[in-house]
Amino acid sequence: MSKRKPMMVGNWKMHKTWAETSVLAQAISNREKNTWEDTDVVICPAMCNLKAAWEVLEFDKSKIKIGAQNVHWADEGAYTGEVSVAMLQDVGAAYCIVGHSERRAYAAETNEDVNRKVKALLKGELTPIVCVGESEHIRNDGAYLDYVCKQVSAAFAGLEDNEVSKCVVAYEPLWAIGTGRTATPEEAQEVCAAIRNEISTEYGKDAAESIRVLYGGSVKPENVDGLMAQPDIDGGLVGGASLDADSFTQLVDATLK
Ligand code: PGA
Repeated sequence: MSKRKPMMVGNWKMHKTWAETSVLAQAISNREKNTWEDTDVVICPAMCNLKAAWEVLEFDKSKIKIGAQNVHWADEGAYTGEVSVAMLQDVGAAYCIVGHSERRAYAAETNEDVNRKVKALLKGELTPIVCVGESEHIRNDGAYLDYVCKQVSAAFAGLEDNEVSKCVVAYEPLWAIGTGRTATPEEAQEVCAAIRNEISTEYGKDAAESIRVLYGGSVKPENVDGLMAQPDIDGGLVGGASLDADSFTQLVDATLK
């Protein structure tokens, strides 16, 4: 395990109503332990339910943080259906996932959009969790390290070194998301090390040593230990297994072993 503070992030995607969000947030909060202070635990419910989760965690004086799954880069304006950084701050979000492959695929989010969102979030003092990852086709072609490093480089274009070090990167190979097929610890480590190396080249050693790099894609209690044992993997971004309080608790505990 690395010297950086580990992290476990639950991406709830488009699951759970308001009431169900409260129930799951409560179930996770009930399992919170003192040891969780040594790791950053983040849950990312649907946009309209951020406040439901926040109310539960606030009442419990929990250390668990709330994250959104998307944001718009503009301060405000005629952007029907969008939500600003200030609106996220207002409902208690401290993190925001950016550039998830599902948004790149279904909402045509580009590297330039990701870059604008990262800048807006940093300006508003929210932590961006920037998702990158290659398709199965790119992996089979062999050019995946270059592809992922270019996504990282584009996401952080124009940032200062100290801004980059505050961000989080999540390496999520598309072929592992929701498929049950996880990257092996060695496969995930190879790409996470390449990401850190890219950051070192562009933003210096300090930024590379501070930034947290997560792995995502079918992370489960059965495979988390091998992933967390890798030197460049600082935690996980988890979809399916974060929707169950028991399995999410095991994943959080695994960051502390
Ligand atoms: P999964 O999703 O854990 O269900 O594969 C991960 C993600 O998309 O963030």
